[in-house]
Amino acid sequence: MSVKEKIDELVEELGYTGIVPVIKLDKVEDAEKLAKALRDGGINCAEVTFRAKGADEVIKRMTKAYPDMLVGAGTVLTCEQVDSAIKAGARFCVAPGLNPKVIKHCLDKGVPFAPGLSSASEIEQALELGLDFCKFFPAEQAGGLAYIKAVCGPYTTMRFMPTGGITADNLNSYLAYNKIVCCGGSWIVPSALLQAGDWEGITKLCREAVDKMLGFEVVHVGLNCANPEEAEKVADEFDSAFGFTKKVGNSSVFAATYIEMMKKPFHGTHGHIAVATNSVSRALYHLEKRGYKVKEGSQKYNAEGVMNVAYLDHEFGGFAVHLVLKK
Ligand code: 3PG
Repeated sequence: MSVKEKIDELVEELGYTGIVPVIKLDKVEDAEKLAKALRDGGINCAEVTFRAKGADEVIKRMTKAYPDMLVGAGTVLTCEQVDSAIKAGARFCVAPGLNPKVIKHCLDKGVPFAPGLSSASEIEQALELGLDFCKFFPAEQAGGLAYIKAVCGPYTTMRFMPTGGITADNLNSYLAYNKIVCCGGSWIVPSALLQAGDWEGITKLCREAVDKMLGFEVVHVGLNCANPEEAEKVADEFDSAFGFTKKVGNSSVFAATYIEMMKKPFHGTHGHIAVATNSVSRALYHLEKRGYKVKEGSQKYNAEGVMNVAYLDHEFGGFAVHLVLKK
């Protein structure tokens, strides 16, 4: 596989994950426990920075314990660090700045490199080196999303991983910009929790961050009715009881936007529940890790080619679930 193909594969995987924990681990013997804590919280990737001694050993231990984990090396400043990161099993390297010599050395070894940048000139240097995926650093301190949009707007092919000052609170605003693949940060692996060996605490932060990123919300419940007459009758009842205005459509009758009476039995024994999310494709990736698969063939895409509907291959209490993209 060419390094370009590896970069595309990396971008695809990071895009599904959405969050890349930036790890500075002082105790190498904790590597496996930390990797497990991240995975248990739904995050199967990490950027292990060379700011801590023994980073290569941490990468080695994590990738050995969990071969399917996407582990990269961070703060890779020299060709020697590239070599030791690759030897340890790093699938990609990241740096805070852009050093052409180090980048070329890494790409020549067939491993993706995401240099850090925060200006138009640096983006052009990265393009010159054949890169179309970079870290944007330090994201918040450089001017946040508004600045990123202004600087990155002209570069149609470049994709970014902002890092620096990202937290669960501003994550979604970054991810909503289509040039942003994923966000990196240390907020899910705070040094206090690492020092204390609080793996459950880290798992909890990861799970909370993933849930917040996906932003699941029920938008309506669909009830299977036997025929159009029954659908209208039930909708009338919701209207008279709760004032949920009836709206007759082609295949269903809505009571306000909350409840959809199907004119004939549709997905699910009793009906379906529509759950909105910030990204259907990313939600499917994380739901699969939680044991819920997509119903093959149920995916639909909007005019921009973004997946906006998909059913799960599972019934929750007799109800099918379909994911819909938030407006
Ligand atoms: C990095 O190395 O990418 C940053 O130090 C991470 O930034 P953060 O600590 O603000 O998340």
